[in-house]
Amino acid sequence: MNKKVLSIAGALCLAFTCSTLAAASNLDAFLDKCGACHKSGAEAAPVNPADKAGVVWVKYFKRGRHPGDLNATINADEMANIVEFLKNHAADSDHPVAAVIPK
Ligand code: HEC
Repeated sequence: MNKKVLSIAGALCLAFTCSTLAAASNLDAFLDKCGACHKSGAEAAPVNPADKAGVVWVKYFKRGRHPGDLNATINADEMANIVEFLKNHAADSDHPVAAVIPK
């Protein structure tokens, strides 16, 4: 994204609320980071927010249940955004998302 686009996004953010913008970038972070390994034909099976309930996602990462070390490719901010996305679209959320990464 170039600087102009970013500043327009920033201005929109101030004028309205950032939630839509933030939601879109959380989705991107999920697709980008988790989707790099989790997609059909890649090293791990597709995953989607609606695979688990919100609290289960939070605990899964808080307790370090994911195999391997994700810190190398996903920083703390990105991880927080991804967990937010997973929670907002978990199985028990108002807007479950089951197929953002196709099976
Ligand atoms: C470096 C590659 C890689 C990245 C990045 C990655 N994973 Fe994984 N993940 C794996 C592998 C490999 C496994 C174990 C094999 C499997 O279960 O398919 C796994 C397992 C899982 C499992 C357990 C699968 C199950 O059925 O119980 C979940 C849930 C999961 N990952 C979610 C995520 C999420 C969410 C992200 C993004 C924050 C992510 N992973 C990022 C490679 C990755």
